[in-house]
Amino acid sequence: MRESLEDICCSKIRVIVGEGSLSKLSEIKDSNTVVIYSRRVDVTDKINKYLPNVYFIPINDGESAKELSNVISIVEKLFERNFDRGDYVIAVGGGTVTDVAGFIASIYLRGLNLVNVPTTFLGMVDAAIGGKNGVNFNNIKNLIGTFYQPSMIISDLEFLETLPIEELKKGLAEVIKYGLTLDKELYDYLSLNKDRVINKDKQVLEEVIFRSTLDKLGIVKEDERETKGIRIVLNFGHTIGHAIEAGSSFNVPHGYAISVGMVCEAKIAEELGYAEEGVVEDVLWLLQLYGLPYDISQIDAPIDIRLALNAINMDKKHRKDAILMPFPTRIGSWKKVEVPLDTIKGFAEQCLKK
Ligand SMILES: NC(=O)c1ccc[n+]([C@@H]2O[C@H](COP(=O)([O-])OP(=O)(O)OC[C@H]3O[C@@H](n4cnc5c(N)ncnc54)[C@H](O)[C@@H]3O)[C@@H](O)[C@H]2O)c1
Repeated sequence: MRESLEDICCSKIRVIVGEGSLSKLSEIKDSNTVVIYSRRVDVTDKINKYLPNVYFIPINDGESAKELSNVISIVEKLFERNFDRGDYVIAVGGGTVTDVAGFIASIYLRGLNLVNVPTTFLGMVDAAIGGKNGVNFNNIKNLIGTFYQPSMIISDLEFLETLPIEELKKGLAEVIKYGLTLDKELYDYLSLNKDRVINKDKQVLEEVIFRSTLDKLGIVKEDERETKGIRIVLNFGHTIGHAIEAGSSFNVPHGYAISVGMVCEAKIAEELGYAEEGVVEDVLWLLQLYGLPYDISQIDAPIDIRLALNAINMDKKHRKDAILMPFPTRIGSWKKVEVPLDTIKGFAEQCLKK
């Protein structure tokens, strides 16, 4: 088991990764505690083993769980049970659950204690980390949200035993992103341990999840609220990735869209002279090794170029007629570059044409 205590502005975050880490829940004592969990994943016995008297609220997965009406109905339940400032919300599930539960913990009485227990690989390496949470409104993803840090992130590898391999691969795209932009050692580790990662070897997954968590927290520590242009590195591959998602009317999974997005954005970085020669090859090599898509022809869904380009206009890193792009310069390093909108759109059209 690996453990670390991280300071992010005004919060202390305990990160615990490894088999059996769920037992750390027993340290939460004498509080009213609600466990918000995914209805599809049976967690009640596992949690009750360490916290026998908690209140469980199951929620559905998928984007419909992130509707405000769902948030309000959970708030009503907490209110009926007299939840108070010192009480706990424990989120047990994938990114959907941690987004919803984190949002509720942040707004109820301006903040209950929050513990994230991710059960998907994407949750363990990304969604449960960094304090962003969001719910949807008017069919717009994450329109309403807050920044709110959990006091603990517990990633117990036992949950991954039941996780389909496709879900593992979707999360691996984000891990590869950390390796490419922030952490050459992680890139090399992934290169050397493909079979053990895919076979869910616990020792190797513990290393990958722990490193990814600290890589992401390292960035969040420097720019928690995304105001200093540092946190944008976590968006590498996401401008083109979001365009692919939008162009397919959200039929392409996020992890696959950003895989293709990373290749395209690395090509732009190389062509504009920001990335050293060979970076595109390095990106391609690792994605191919893990069987992730690297070219639009490998994406099954049709892509409407007009919708895709429109999504680039809406990119949150958009400034006047340019977009701030985090470009890899060589493996493990990156640079923020302001690129004219038309340039990005021109490259995007090339990358997205089947
Ligand atoms: N806040 C952030 O920083 C952040 C970052 C990335 C993604 N997200 C959000 O996360 C969501 C996606 O998260 P996700 O990919 O974890 O998806 P998810 O939460 O929808 O879970 C994916 C599927 O895995 C199932 N599942 C969960 N745990 C399982 C287990 N242990 N075994 C078997 N099946 C299991 C779920 O029931 C679901 O069907 C999106 O809404 C996205 O916006 C948030």
